[in-house]
Amino acid sequence: MSGSAAVWWQSGTVYQIYPRSFQDTDGDGVGDLRGIAARLDYLAWLGVDAIWISPFYRSPMADFGYDVADYCAVDPLFGSLEDFDALISEAHRRRLRVILDFVPNHSSIEHPWFAESRASRTNPKRDWYIWRDPGPGGGPPNNWLSNFGGPAWTRDPATGQYYYHAFLPEQPDLNWRNPEVRAAMHDALRFWLERGVDGFRVDVIWHLIKDEGFRDNPRNSDFQSDQAGINRFHQVHSCDQPEVLDVIAGMRAVLRAYGERVLIGEIYLPIERLVTYYGPGLTGADLPFNFQLIQTPWRADAVAALVAEYEAALPEGGWPNWVLGNHDQPRIAARVGEAQARIAAMLLLTLRGTPTLYYGDEIGLGHVPVPPERAQDPWGRNEPGHGRDPERTPMQWEDGPNAGFTAGTPWLPLSADAERRNVDAMRDDSRSILTLYRRLLSLRRDHAALSIGHWRSLSLPADFAAELFGFERFIGDETLRILLNFGNREWGVPLEGGGTWTILLSTCPGRAGDRAEGSLRLGPDEGVVLQAVGR
Ligand code: NOJ
Repeated sequence: MSGSAAVWWQSGTVYQIYPRSFQDTDGDGVGDLRGIAARLDYLAWLGVDAIWISPFYRSPMADFGYDVADYCAVDPLFGSLEDFDALISEAHRRRLRVILDFVPNHSSIEHPWFAESRASRTNPKRDWYIWRDPGPGGGPPNNWLSNFGGPAWTRDPATGQYYYHAFLPEQPDLNWRNPEVRAAMHDALRFWLERGVDGFRVDVIWHLIKDEGFRDNPRNSDFQSDQAGINRFHQVHSCDQPEVLDVIAGMRAVLRAYGERVLIGEIYLPIERLVTYYGPGLTGADLPFNFQLIQTPWRADAVAALVAEYEAALPEGGWPNWVLGNHDQPRIAARVGEAQARIAAMLLLTLRGTPTLYYGDEIGLGHVPVPPERAQDPWGRNEPGHGRDPERTPMQWEDGPNAGFTAGTPWLPLSADAERRNVDAMRDDSRSILTLYRRLLSLRRDHAALSIGHWRSLSLPADFAAELFGFERFIGDETLRILLNFGNREWGVPLEGGGTWTILLSTCPGRAGDRAEGSLRLGPDEGVVLQAVGR
């Protein structure tokens, strides 16, 4: 930040809650809004600033809430509007912001708008969705595929036309080229803004506008058979169209009328495309979600190159953000292992930009195997191997039945080590990953250098590069230095520029307060935050 005050979504941290899996209070095995309210004290204790709640709107749950049948209602599975109002006021009382998941690209097939739209070719809402005549051979209108496997077009016998769905056939895409759709969706945003929500995470925002001519996507000659079918084609015409920036600016304007509310956009695109979603003159998403850490190989040199590339690509004034995991991606601990999950935590919470934590990562939840007979995710059923159930398993709170998640039968299994991998068992253990997350969050709050300071990489000797990543965060007269060991060897790291440094925090307990001059011994899988002494 160059002198100007940071707003809450820049200096703060976001915690994602997958509501089905956080806390159940009515014994049906699925989490609910009252459950989230019951755990707000935990979140305040942990030290996050905002919660983003995945969808809880009325839905037939074909894609677990990402198929919305009423944008202005709470599904009874999760509770009621009264429960939501109570949740938001309790969250605000604890100075926790509340971000909702907004799913504008598609509705549920059961949304009354779609019922009208499919009724006839002349229905006033026909153009609210994307209808096309069959292609020349009588099949789908073009070669676009569904992200969940199979064609993205389904023929509706009532009128003989096909409708487009980027995801399940139960999730028809809305037509955002139609101003009536925009107006109706803006009203839905206002409905929640009036209830006090602090912002939205907008689902698949780069999908909202499709090529006007519906041209075929080009074939991907690098397609590998273990990839999801959607990768057979480059998605150049089915999403990421220039007109989408105008749509996003429209949503952002609705939010800004309510003050400092945040618009986070879900975007899976390479860095050079991702940063365009800040929009011309920063009229786009406040935070175009940056998933690059999820997609980059877990090596110090690869991560260092990524951070430098992203920092360099940001537009003037564009605020960065970082993510290690979410409900669609394998858990970070499953990907990098338990020891490196601690390095990942330190990286996430010391980089420049808003971090988003995924529930359960703070207790080091890893891959929880889900037996085929308990599989839930429709994508995994369509395309085996791509199911997202293992990263959606219940939060583990205590050593008791179902780890305190539910008094009923949990909708997905718990991890086999739930009796020791839970909040109660870890909260007072100075060596636990939960303690590490809490200390990192507190450090970030206490040091403006970490929350809003500048970033610069440290140059380390070339033979360290594959295993060590070092950078500085600084603001005013404070400089912090972060050194992360991505490997399992010990290193003596020269401290560039000399001076004396104190260890503020290490991923290995017991080193805080130690001083180093000239060089620092960095243990295997160790990360440290250092503070310059007397400078
Ligand atoms: C992205 C969401 O994160 C994912 O869970 C969902 O299945 C798709 N969008 C479709 O809404």
